[in-house]
Amino acid sequence: MTSSKCRVVVLISGSGTNLQALIDGQLNQTLAIDIVGVISNRPGVAGLERAEKAGIPTKVLDHKTFDTREEFDWQMEREIIKFDPDLVVLAGYMRIMTPELVKAFEGKMLNIHPSLLPKYPGLQTHRRALENGDSEHGSSVHFVTEVLDGGPLIAQSRITINDDDTEQTLGERIKLVEHKLYPQVVQWFAEGRLAFENNQTFFDGKKLEQPKQV
Ligand code: GRF
Repeated sequence: MTSSKCRVVVLISGSGTNLQALIDGQLNQTLAIDIVGVISNRPGVAGLERAEKAGIPTKVLDHKTFDTREEFDWQMEREIIKFDPDLVVLAGYMRIMTPELVKAFEGKMLNIHPSLLPKYPGLQTHRRALENGDSEHGSSVHFVTEVLDGGPLIAQSRITINDDDTEQTLGERIKLVEHKLYPQVVQWFAEGRLAFENNQTFFDGKKLEQPKQV
């Protein structure tokens, strides 16, 4: 991976602003990556248009056309493998994965989640942070394991919650920090600085005790 660019497949379900941050990094050459494919489980989403505009091959695999999660994920695994990626990036991919799919890409699949994990895995993270009166919120990038939003952490970005913040303003402000956080982590992976062993994150060969703050 050091001599050639890291081949990245991005999985999306929606707007794809994190995908756009990665595309921009590839285009302006701050990221040593080649986004070789974008796969969406929803047809017609804006993220697909972003990929097409950048000339990146896309694939729609509509989960509604499959009878079971197992059949869908089996096919998803095949579609990902076709792109022969070094790294699979989940960027707003809103599907729970089977253990088989997770296992197939162990140590080379990343997710970004809009909370300071281990706080608030799952949905409605901005609402939960507000309801609990938290003073800070943020986003986390982690290796994907079978535990939903529970794989070993790599890095986080934090924001202060203001008195006048709403779910919407928090969502917008979180996305802004995500667009720096995710490219940074992807670049670390591309440089070979990140590894996953024994369910732990290693950075530059050392076990990462605390997530990096970006
Ligand atoms: C992000 O906030 C990410 O943390 C979460 O889903 C959102 C995706 O947004 N997993 P986008 O599709 O990248 O705009």
